[in-house]
Parts: sequence; C-alpha cells; structure tokens
Amino acid sequence: MGESGPDILTLVKRAYGRHPALVAASTAALLALLGLNVVALLRGLESAWLLSTVMVADVIVIGSGIFGASRAVMSATYRIEANEARLASIVDSAMDAILTVDEEQKVVLFNLAAETVFGVRREDALGSSLERFLPSRFRTGHRAHIQGFGRTGVTGRRMGDATTLWALRANGEEFPIEASISQAVEDGRRFYTVILRDITLRKRADDALRAQQRELRELSARVVEAREEEKTHIARELHDELGQMLTALKMDLAWLAGRLPAEDAEVAARAGEMRGLLEDTVSAARRISADLRPLMLDDLGLAEAAQWLAQDFAKRSGIPCEVRMVEPEALQGLPKTLSTAIYRAVQESLTNVARHSGAKRVWVAFAAENGGVQIEIEDDGRGIGAEDLKKARSLGLKGMRERFAYFGGSLEISSPARGGTRLRIQVPVPREDARG
Ligand SMILES: Nc1ncnc2c1ncn2[C@@H]1O[C@H](COP(=O)(O)OP(=O)(O)O)[C@@H](O)[C@H]1O
Ligand SMILES: [Mg+2]
Repeated sequence: MGESGPDILTLVKRAYGRHPALVAASTAALLALLGLNVVALLRGLESAWLLSTVMVADVIVIGSGIFGASRAVMSATYRIEANEARLASIVDSAMDAILTVDEEQKVVLFNLAAETVFGVRREDALGSSLERFLPSRFRTGHRAHIQGFGRTGVTGRRMGDATTLWALRANGEEFPIEASISQAVEDGRRFYTVILRDITLRKRADDALRAQQRELRELSARVVEAREEEKTHIARELHDELGQMLTALKMDLAWLAGRLPAEDAEVAARAGEMRGLLEDTVSAARRISADLRPLMLDDLGLAEAAQWLAQDFAKRSGIPCEVRMVEPEALQGLPKTLSTAIYRAVQESLTNVARHSGAKRVWVAFAAENGGVQIEIEDDGRGIGAEDLKKARSLGLKGMRERFAYFGGSLEISSPARGGTRLRIQVPVPREDARG
C-alpha cells in the first residue's frame, strides 16, 4: 500500500502551515536567541552571568524546538499509517478485485477479492508479473496495450468495450471479466490500477438466454414456414385442380346448353343460372386461393406480387396505394422464405392501415441498399401510440419484428412529421452460397 498519500515532509509542512502564530513565535525566539548569542560572543568573557544565561536560553530554545519538531514528525507518521490502514481496509472490503501494477507490470497491490477471484494469495501475487493472470493468447498484446493506455494520458476507462475480456485463475481456468483501468503518476513512477469483476455467472445466464431466444425464433420460423407451405399446397390444389375441373364443367355446360331444345325457355334459363353460379364458383376459388397464398409470389416474384397486393388493397379498401420500387430486380433473387416474410409484412401492414389508421393514402417503397432490402409502409392516418404496441392480443407487429430479427434485420415504427405511421423494415439479403 506504500504508494499512496503525501509523504512525511509534506505533512509536517502542512502542520506548521496550520499554526502561523507558532511559527512566528518560534522564528522570533530564534532571532532573539541569535541576537543574545552575538552579544554573548562579544561580551561573554567580561560577564559570566551573561554567558551562562545565554547558554541556558540556547538549551531551552533549541531543546523545545527539537522536541516540537520530533512530535510533529511522529504524529505525521502516525497519520500516514492510519490513512494507509484505512485505505487498505476499504480496498479489501471492495467486492471487485483490485490490483495495481507498476511500470514493469509487477503487482504492487492485490486486494482480498483478487485473492478469491484468482485463487492466489496476496504474498504470492505481490511482485509477480501481471501476465500470470491473463490467458496466454492475450499476453503478447496486453503489455503494449497498457503502455498505449499510459501514453493517452486518460485517467481511467472501461476495458474491452465491445468484446468479452478473459482472465486466468491459478488453477488454469479462464473466466470472463468486466474491467476498468486507471493510471496515476507518483514520484515520477506510473502505476496502473485494474478493477475487475468475475462475470462468469452473468455471462452464462446471458448466453443461455440468447440461446433460448435463438431456439424460440427458430421454432417460430419453422412454424410460420410450415403454415406457409400448407397454404401454398392448398392454394395450388384450389387453383390448379379445382380450377381445371370447373373449367371443364363450364365447357360441358356450354356444350349441353347448345343442344337444348330451343322451345324450352325454362331449361335454357336454368342453364344460364348454372353458368352464372359456375362463374362465381371459379372467382371464389381464385379469390380463396389468392388469399391463402398468392401463387404469383412463387411464379413471378416479390415485385409483381407486391404490386398486385397494393392494387388489390386499393380496390378492396378504397384507399389509394402507391408503390415505389427503386431497384425491382434486387427483389427477384431473394430466398423464398424471405420474400414470403416481406410479402406477409406488407400484407399485414396494409390490413392494419385499413383496420386501424383511418388513412386517406398509403405509400409502399422498396429499396435495395448496402447488401440488404429496405421496405417502408407509410400512411397519413391517426398514427400508432405506445399503448397500441403493448396490446397483449395484437400479434401482427410483434410477429413481424420477430420474423425480421430471425433474418438478422429490424422493424422500426415511427411517425412522419405530418402524422400517420411509418414502418421501416431493413433486412440483409443472405449471400448466394448461404441460401436455403
Ligand atoms: N397503420 C396504423 N395506424 C394506426 N394504428 C395502428 C396501425 N397499425 C397498427 N396500429 C395499432 O397497433 C395495434 C397493433 O397492431 P397489430 O400488432 O397488427 O395487431 P392487430 O392488428 O391484431 O390489433 C393495433 O391494434 C392498432 O391499434
Ligand atoms: Mg394487425
């Protein structure tokens, strides 16, 4: 601990500084004594009483001076020791490990928590190199790193801002830490103090939570994809199988109608009704199929399907919907799961506009940027409040956020200056070789 606090001389000077009257009196006494001694030197041989008085005065003044000075030194020493003991007990009671190294990176301070964390006794730690507390792969860079910090002149900072730092216990076990470093120069020597915390438990909990989140996201992605596949399958059946059969029926009906006796108006009317019903069935099958899954998405791609979605929305809701695509070709090569997710997000957002916003207009914009796609859906309606997003039973936006997080992207909800709602989806496009 000997490196901290002012030294004895400073403390003594300070003690005298606090009692100017005493210093003045002592100076006056010394000056008077000096005068007496000069007189005694000149006249001492003529008068014995003068000589002896001066000698007695010398002894008294010099003696009490020595007494006073040594008292001051002793009390300063005592205060330094008391300060050091207090500081040491504070350092030892800290929950975090604290260790100080000198310029050669030899340990000069090692608190109790450091003993526990590293499994090294203080006597063993003091004087040894800081490197023994670092996993070997970090040793080379570390020394230069600390010296670099010394040159910055910054007094303190957090270590390893973004990455996890690792330290080494005496038993060879590595453990993650959170640490800060500070520096101080004393008597021309530089000391570095590292305060660190073992975050093994927290990191384990963090890692477990993250793994669990990933699993849940994976699971929800599988569920969404399975549903999507099922819908696609039914949509195809409806469109292809049922569509073909209905078309065949229509042709047969036309053939029959052509052969009906011309004079039987009732039969002809019934045939006409049947044709009308058949037409309705064909469009119902088409509509149900398209609602389940726009086969256009698989056959023509996202750009076309999104255009169709916007037109269909405008037709059904009566709200004009403008689509802007900066680089439609960027949307063509997307993996199927991603283009489906984007399509469903636009669909959900437009449904929200129709159901909740009271908007007069909607804009949908697609742009390709920095190896990703950005989609914005904006309306001029009443806007989304913070409370809206907390509705327990509302899963549309939450589902979208999760879905894009799964793809490594994000969903942002904001309000344009003139009011309304703006959803911005940003999602990276996976590289060609990573696509499933
Ligand atoms: N475009 C919008 N304009 C205004 N409010 C919206 C808009 N979109 C969503 N909201 C609000 O956010 C809530 C959550 O939306 P969402 O997650 O899609 O669930 P749901 O549509 O099933 O309610 C909605 O209930 C609504 O109050
Ligand atoms: Mg919704």
